[in-house]
Amino acid sequence: MMLQAVIFDLDGVITDTAHLHFQAWRTVAAETGIHIDEEVNESLKGISRMASLERILRLGGKAKTFNEAQKAALAGRKNARYVQLLGTLGPQSLLPGIAPLLTELKTQQIKIGLASASLNAPRILQALGLTAIFDYCADASRITHSKPDPEIFLAACRGLGVKPQACVGVEDAQAGIDAINACGMLSIGIGSTLREADLRLNSTQELTWRRIAGLMEHTEKATGFRR
Ligand code: BG6
Ligand code: MG
Repeated sequence: MMLQAVIFDLDGVITDTAHLHFQAWRTVAAETGIHIDEEVNESLKGISRMASLERILRLGGKAKTFNEAQKAALAGRKNARYVQLLGTLGPQSLLPGIAPLLTELKTQQIKIGLASASLNAPRILQALGLTAIFDYCADASRITHSKPDPEIFLAACRGLGVKPQACVGVEDAQAGIDAINACGMLSIGIGSTLREADLRLNSTQELTWRRIAGLMEHTEKATGFRR
């Protein structure tokens, strides 16, 4: 099958917002008397805002301390701080290799999609100057099953009008790789600890058109019935 689209995760693939999420969560967690470190932050990648809060509270031994309204307020405060920090983001914040890759995908007439769990995705794309280059962005607020469920990647395929078998998905979180694999797309993982990615790269610098096209060609040859 011919490659028709590449569907990207946002945080950690297009731009590195993990440290901003970390700063914002650290502030809010500290208000509740919980200290979080980089390792905790690592485990929040790809996880929705509310699920992240639940995880922090659980790790801090406060899973039952707050009611739903209080949790909503905490998540709201985290987001307000995060949005403030997003003010530092600009076209200079693209991860290495992403700008030339997006240009090349356009030249090759490959569709470009987004499958991010972030409710801030439209705002972030705007800040990065990428709104026009994406053909379709799945709306995280309408997704009922978060990654590793394939729902958001399938929504992106539908929006782009392509079959998952004709797409490659790019992710930096394990939950994201699992989501891509679950819908029969080829998966590319950015990061050293990811399992089960069809192609694993250490950095977005290595994420080139040549590698993506090669993966599509090669994997089809090797495992014709895989998808
Ligand atoms: C994901 C991030 O992309 O978006 C997570 O990896 C984050 O860390 C999630 O929690 C939701 O983001 P937001 O912007 O809706 O709070
Ligand atoms: Mg990510």
